[in-house]
Amino acid sequence: MEAHTSARPAGGIAQAHRVLAFVVFGGGILQFLLAGYAVFDGSSFDAHAGVGTVITVIALIVLILAFVGRREAVPASALLFGLMVLQNILGAVGDSAPVLGALHPVNGLLILGAAMAAAAGGRSAARTTVALGLSRSSSPGSAGRAAPASWP
Ligand code: HEM
Repeated sequence: MEAHTSARPAGGIAQAHRVLAFVVFGGGILQFLLAGYAVFDGSSFDAHAGVGTVITVIALIVLILAFVGRREAVPASALLFGLMVLQNILGAVGDSAPVLGALHPVNGLLILGAAMAAAAGGRSAARTTVALGLSRSSSPGSAGRAAPASWP
């Protein structure tokens, strides 16, 4: 007797999407550290640019995973990827156009928010934080969902 559940693969994809969105968030924090380190002459910006490229690729994977298995997270994931592309452009033209370069760190903040929103599956970052703290369930299908209002 085989009990196939079509929800299981989609749940796995949703979980992968959530984890990778958090990886982008963590990578964004790392980018602030690497930028600060470079600004104070601890290193060049090479590591920062390299990690930024890796995060951009991961953000694209996050968007693809949202399309495949977490449709409610598509808007936030598309926003995240769009902001990452913009971040690359702002970083590249910053030397010749300082006004645009000045927007690069600010856009970095937006990226952190978008990554949290994507991880939340489209809900606000605040609700995600609450859900992470309160939710007792770790089942793939419940990834990122807030604990019920009646819980515990
Ligand atoms: C989520 C946060 C961030 C991400 C994802 C990110 C990503 C990137 C990427 C991909 C590049 C390479 C652009 C290119 O040349 O093609 C870059 C360059 C740069 N970033 Fe960021 N960045 C972030 C935050 C910051 C912050 C907070 C600063 C603070 C000053 C900063 C300063 C710079 C500078 C100065 C460059 C140019 C480096 C160079 O000329 O080689 N970045 N960033």
